[in-house]
Amino acid sequence: MRKIRILTGDRPTGRLHIGHYFGSLKTRLEMQEKEEYEPYILIADVQALTDNFNNPEKVRKNVLEVATDYLAIGIDPNKTTIYIQSMIPEVAELTVFYSNLVTIARLKRNPTVKTEIAQKKEIFGESVTYGFLGYPVNQAADITAFEGELVPVGEDQEPLIEQCREIVRKFNSIYGNVLVEPKAVLSSTKRIKGLDGNEKMGKSLGNAIYLSDSEDEITRKVMGAVTDPGRIKKDDLGNPDICMVAYYHNLFSTKNEIETICQECREGRRGCVACKKQLAKNIIETLRPIREKRAYYEEHPELVEQILLEGTKKAQLVARETMKKVKKAMQLDYFEEEKK
Ligand code: TRP
Ligand code: SF4
Repeated sequence: MRKIRILTGDRPTGRLHIGHYFGSLKTRLEMQEKEEYEPYILIADVQALTDNFNNPEKVRKNVLEVATDYLAIGIDPNKTTIYIQSMIPEVAELTVFYSNLVTIARLKRNPTVKTEIAQKKEIFGESVTYGFLGYPVNQAADITAFEGELVPVGEDQEPLIEQCREIVRKFNSIYGNVLVEPKAVLSSTKRIKGLDGNEKMGKSLGNAIYLSDSEDEITRKVMGAVTDPGRIKKDDLGNPDICMVAYYHNLFSTKNEIETICQECREGRRGCVACKKQLAKNIIETLRPIREKRAYYEEHPELVEQILLEGTKKAQLVARETMKKVKKAMQLDYFEEEKK
């Protein structure tokens, strides 16, 4: 019986942080252990270029960084195929074919795209590029080229999966039932806030802890986290519900610790500095195996490259098969005899 194909990926624009970890990375780790699944993870360098076209070095460098992060958290290349998007030419071809099946008005209405365009004024000014506006079409190509059925992603990606489903239905209604309609699988944990309390964690905000951060970096960041602003002295009564340190204790500390922390904080029996130190220690310990594995791969980039090359070769074969079906359905299957 054919396995259920799982397809997901990330834009290589920076290293991965704990927001990614509690978001889609954990789901991916769980999924790769299931016999009935066949998971693929793409490093979406073409998509990253849609808003980093003027910075190819950044994208190039981060392809390796993201791949190293995947291996460090335990993505196993024997179970999950990791590949580079730009090395699958079929995805670019499909993007062109699908662009006939989606209107400009529909793309402009996509909530994710809309938010991103508003955030990226310094790149696009008042007029967004054709490539960026159309990246959901490219993402639909990513998913359908692999006949991806399940797509584990964060909430923000849901409108993109919906857009893909619409494209699939339109394609199938015109050209015949060829493409597989995917479903989003949302992770159970909510999006993790930044250390400063911002709803979003990110590099540009400087409020994230990276999987690759050293012990000192973790400690420094935790010491700068936002606490209950009403607390000046240790014996001021505190409110852990509005403290980012308490919020992170909930992710990294034991149940007993959390109970004690909240109680002592409310009763004014707990110092914020000690509370932060304890959190830093717990984060350092939780991330230790990831950090150590990462250090190993950092010392052996050739291993990471080999894994990417093998994954990409495997992915190319899969996309080629889908393309045959698509071209046949679209009556673009010229000279099939001669090619044999
Ligand atoms: N848009 C995704 C992100 O920004 C990355 C991505 C590209 C993706 N292609 C995909 C995710 C296909 C899931 C499926 O993180
Ligand atoms: Fe936050 Fe801990 Fe300070 Fe309470 S004691 S405000 S939980 S850092």
